[in-house]
Amino acid sequence: MQKHIFKIVLLALVLAVISCTKAIIDEGDKSTLPPITKTVTYEADIKLIMTNNCITCHAGPAPNAGLDLSNYQNTKYSAEQGSLVARMNSATNPMPPNGTLSPQTLQIIDKWITDNLPEN
Ligand code: HEC
Repeated sequence: MQKHIFKIVLLALVLAVISCTKAIIDEGDKSTLPPITKTVTYEADIKLIMTNNCITCHAGPAPNAGLDLSNYQNTKYSAEQGSLVARMNSATNPMPPNGTLSPQTLQIIDKWITDNLPEN
């Protein structure tokens, strides 16, 4: 019986190590990711990122910081003239406030900037 418990504990440990390793890889630096080769557009890529992560606070009649990120023009303006990119990449003052998004998502934002913020 004791042997059996030992095996279960060992298996749990192995699984924990595997999932930790995976988490570390997933949260790797975006500079180590393979480059995005397609053109990133607001409609195809950025809109969904904003919808899923930002507009709960940055939309509606009284958006936080007066910043409404529910449409192309405002999102483009904030990325070009404002602090959207800096805040999304900030370790100390991130947006969303509860922590930076995945390196994969941040890489998509960077590529959108490189591509000159196209809508479609
Ligand atoms: C839980 C609510 C919340 C979410 C979600 C959120 N924000 Fe914010 N955001 C705020 C608040 C509150 C402020 C004003 C205080 C500050 O600057 O930290 C702010 C400020 C900002 C600013 C600075 C605006 C300025 O004019 O100084 C930017 C840019 C920004 N958010 C972008 C984003 C982006 C992009 C996302 C999604 C990736 C996001 N935020 C998600 C609450 C939120």
